Amino acid sequence: MHKSIINRFGLLFLMALLSPLAALAADGEAIMVHGAANPQAMPCITCHGADGMGMAAAGFPRLAGLPAPYIVKQLGDFRSAARQNPIMEPIAKALTDDEIAAVARAYAARPPVNVTATAVDRPVRGTGAWLALRGAWERNIPECTLCHGPGGIGVGESFPPLAGQSAMYLEAQLKAWKGSMVEVKGKRKSLIITRRNDPNNLMQHIAADLSDAEIKAVAEYFFSLGDSSEPFNESQRRLR
Ligand code: HEC
Ligand code: HEC
Repeated sequence: MHKSIINRFGLLFLMALLSPLAALAADGEAIMVHGAANPQAMPCITCHGADGMGMAAAGFPRLAGLPAPYIVKQLGDFRSAARQNPIMEPIAKALTDDEIAAVARAYAARPPVNVTATAVDRPVRGTGAWLALRGAWERNIPECTLCHGPGGIGVGESFPPLAGQSAMYLEAQLKAWKGSMVEVKGKRKSLIITRRNDPNNLMQHIAADLSDAEIKAVAEYFFSLGDSSEPFNESQRRLR
C-alpha cells in the first residue's frame, strides 16, 4: 500500500517533469515547411523562401541567421500590432509561444549574412554610403553602422542585420517608421505610422528625419553589399 502511493507520486513527479518538455516539442523546421498546428500560421517557406533567404522581388525579408530573440520580438510586435502588417499579424497570432520559440531557434541556426571585406573609398557626401558610414550628425542621425555593425551585418540580439535584406524591404521598413500622410474617409490627412516597435524610438526618429530619396539611397547601399560566403574577418571592423 505504502509502496504504491510512493510509486504513484513518482509517476506524477515524472509527468510534471516531462510536461514542459512536451510543450517545448514544437519543431521549428517542420513549422517552416508545413506550417504550425493552427493552419492560419502558413508555412514560412511560402514567402520567406525554402532557404530562409526571403524573396527580394516581393519584398519578403530574409529570416536565415537573424538572432532568435529578434525574431521572437518581431512576432510579438506583429501580435500586439506595434508592428502592423496585414500578412504577418494573423500568422503571428496563430503561432503559440512555444512554436515561436522553436521557429526562431531554427532560423537563427541558419548561416548569418556576411559581406565581403573591402576597403571603402571615402564616401561621397549625400549618398547612401555616406549616410550608412558617416550619418547626418547635423540632424542627429548617427551612421547606421554604429548600431547595425560594420557592413550592416547586425550586432547582438537587438540590432538586426541590414545587409542581406532587399532594398525594397529596407525601404518599406524605414517608411513604416517615418509614416505617410493618408486621407481617412474624407477627413483631414493624418500621419499613419505602421511600425512603432523600436526601443526608445531609435529608428522612428532616424526615419522621420530622412527624405524619401535618402531612404531609397541608404536601402540600396545596404542591399548592394550582398552576401558573401567568406568567413567574417575582424579586420572588417577597421575597413567599414
Ligand atoms: C504569405 C506570406 C508570408 C508567410 C507565409 C510568412 N511571412 Fe513572415 N513576413 C511576410 C512579410 C510580407 C513580412 C514583412 C512585414 C512588414 O513589412 O512589416 C514578413 C516579416 C516577418 C518577420 C520580420 C523580419 C524582420 O527582419 O524584421 C518575421 C520574424 C517573420 N516574418 C516570421 C515568419 C514566420 C516564422 C513564418 C512562418 C510561421 C512567416 N513569417 C510566414 C510574409 C510572410
Ligand atoms: C541608435 C541605434 C540605431 C541606429 C544609429 C540605426 N538603427 Fe536601424 N535599428 C535599430 C534597432 C534597435 C532596430 C530594431 C528595432 C526593432 O526591434 O524592431 C533597427 C531596425 C532597423 C531596420 C529594420 C530591419 C528589419 O529587419 O526589419 C531598418 C531597415 C533599419 N534599422 C535601418 C537603419 C538605417 C538605414 C540606419 C541609418 C540611417 C539605421 N537603421 C540606424 C537601431 C539603430
